[in-house]
Amino acid sequence: MNPDLDHLQPYPFERLRELFAGITPVAGFASISLSMGEPKHSTPPFILEAYAKALSGVASYPLTAGVPELREAIAAWATRRYQLKALDPSTQVLPVAGSREGLFSFAQTVIDRSRDARVIAPNPFYQIYEGAALLAGAKPIYLPTTADDGFRMRFDSLTPAQWRNVQLVYVCTPGNPTGHVMTLDEWKQLFELSDRYGFVIASDECYSEIYFEEGKPPLGSLQAASQLGRDRYERLVMFCSLSKRSSVPGMRSGFVAGDADALKKFLLYRTYHGTAMSVAVQLASVAAWQDEAHVVENRRLYAQKFAQATPVINSRLACSIPDAAFYLWARTPIADAEYAQRLYAQKNVTELPGSYLSRDASGGNPGTGYVRIALVASPAEVADAAARIASLNLEG
Ligand SMILES: Cc1ncc(COP(=O)(O)O)c(C=O)c1O
Repeated sequence: MNPDLDHLQPYPFERLRELFAGITPVAGFASISLSMGEPKHSTPPFILEAYAKALSGVASYPLTAGVPELREAIAAWATRRYQLKALDPSTQVLPVAGSREGLFSFAQTVIDRSRDARVIAPNPFYQIYEGAALLAGAKPIYLPTTADDGFRMRFDSLTPAQWRNVQLVYVCTPGNPTGHVMTLDEWKQLFELSDRYGFVIASDECYSEIYFEEGKPPLGSLQAASQLGRDRYERLVMFCSLSKRSSVPGMRSGFVAGDADALKKFLLYRTYHGTAMSVAVQLASVAAWQDEAHVVENRRLYAQKFAQATPVINSRLACSIPDAAFYLWARTPIADAEYAQRLYAQKNVTELPGSYLSRDASGGNPGTGYVRIALVASPAEVADAAARIASLNLEG
């Protein structure tokens, strides 16, 4: 068997199941799950209708590169959203079966395992980056993102000798779990390092459409590149998906866009990988990318939940509304796993301990002492959960 598999860590939700094993929550509270980042808002009917209409597409094998209408719809959306000068649908866009799959398989394309290969990931982070690096034969370097630094990755904390081995950098903006959105200055620094050391940047932007003020969307990586005159997006790709934007996590529909040379290799890899998106999903995705009204409504619901729940939760767990995305990254008054256990036992609310999303690295574990609270449930459930969090008794 592949020995790299032995380096994989248990997934956070597996650890959560173990943490809660043998605990029966006190009677009288309905279960509310705020642990998983799975959107719960209802799927817009027009997406389901487009899907149903395209079902006969199952009669043929789909192309890995997707149908031209999908790549064109994605390129048009990204060009509008990020005010790009150009994004060529035939060479700079590819569909992926959800950003998770794309983020994972991209590392398998990029990493040259004949050399000492390092992959940078934020810490805390989405665990797929780590697994992708390990299974590609690379070693992860975890860059802590802490409140003291405004949850930025400190790229200047690495030495030139370390940078020389870096082949791939994962960033997540808006970040899961911190919600931090990378600024133009952060991008400038990262692009300069990429020019100097030749690494590829994989920017995970699956939360890009969940933000709080209409007309003020978070800066994207292609947008930053374009603003800095890098219109060919050298060594840069971004991943986005419909899962959070359109509340269709089960559709497994996303895209990767950016550097044409990197995507040419990625397409070759994907031909073998065999994750071509079903044509019905592709056509439903075209409809979803072409509509913004449902996304505005989706954001309105999240903003309403944040405005209602944040002050209530903040009365017990220090937290504030993030730059974007749908998580509260809240400090716990006791050890994070013990806090999550007590909340589950006494109030039947589940949250994810911060230390399950992070690794021990130099200077400690930056997830320790936090919980990630996903405001994905209905507004009524989120309000109920916030009240339960505020009334949790931690004495005794
Ligand atoms: C940071 C991050 N990236 C990627 C994903 C994967 O999303 P999807 O594969 O549904 O696009 C998730 C899912 O929760 C996530 O939190």
